[in-house]
Amino acid sequence: MSISEQAFWNFYARLYDTLGTTIPYTQLHREIVGCLKHIHNDQARVLDAGCGTGHQLKLIRDRHPSWRLSGLDRSEAMLQVASRKLRDDNVVLQQGDLSKPLPFNDETFDAVISTNVLYTLPDPVAHLRELRRILKKGGTLVLVNPWNPKPHLIFVDHLRRVFNRKRPDEIALTCFRMPSYISIFALNLLIAAKGHTQTYTFTPAHSFSGTLESCGFKILTARQDIYANTCVLFKAKAV
Ligand SMILES: C[S@@+](CC[C@H](N)C(=O)[O-])C[C@H]1O[C@@H](n2cnc3c(N)ncnc32)[C@H](O)[C@@H]1O
Repeated sequence: MSISEQAFWNFYARLYDTLGTTIPYTQLHREIVGCLKHIHNDQARVLDAGCGTGHQLKLIRDRHPSWRLSGLDRSEAMLQVASRKLRDDNVVLQQGDLSKPLPFNDETFDAVISTNVLYTLPDPVAHLRELRRILKKGGTLVLVNPWNPKPHLIFVDHLRRVFNRKRPDEIALTCFRMPSYISIFALNLLIAAKGHTQTYTFTPAHSFSGTLESCGFKILTARQDIYANTCVLFKAKAV
């Protein structure tokens, strides 16, 4: 990741949790937690690779307090926000670069989550092989990646749902947050633009399937309708 990439994510960290107040984002993270419900091991080890501000880890910790959770991210600012949210012995946060070999032994984790980070990496296939290496055989990969990076779909979906619910408190909060939503929208437009210059890779589900299988995964479910139809979600098993 270049310096400007780091600066970008460090800047985005200031606003990122406001994205976490949108209905599509909250729903996406709930769907991901749902993909882990088959894990009954009280001591399960789970990694959020590219954990950002720790929103997903917090949701998992609240649902599964005994699991041993780890989060890795390159952005110091993202990790600072995450550590304020996760003052908990069961969550280990560390700074690291996902475009390099990962600092974990083979077959360490029962599950690995990768949400909206693979597209930023210069060699997604090498990263997927690393995720397979650190997963136990039979372990779960939950992978989310944009295929249709149109940020307006996320914000329109959020506004539509808030206004449909007709709750004055929710509508008022959404209005107060509007300046932050507009800034986030602008940052997400920048992300989408990086797809046009091939800096980022946005891939539809069908062109991902073969890649996942060649990296040692069996796809269990694949959906392309999540996060307001902008992302694909794969649940896959390490074979
Ligand atoms: C769009 S955010 C997603 C955060 C989180 N997974 C979520 O769903 O909210 C992308 C995250 O990937 C991180 N990231 C980008 N490139 C990275 C790299 N090479 N190594 C580690 N983290 C990286 C950024 O710092 C940022 O926190």
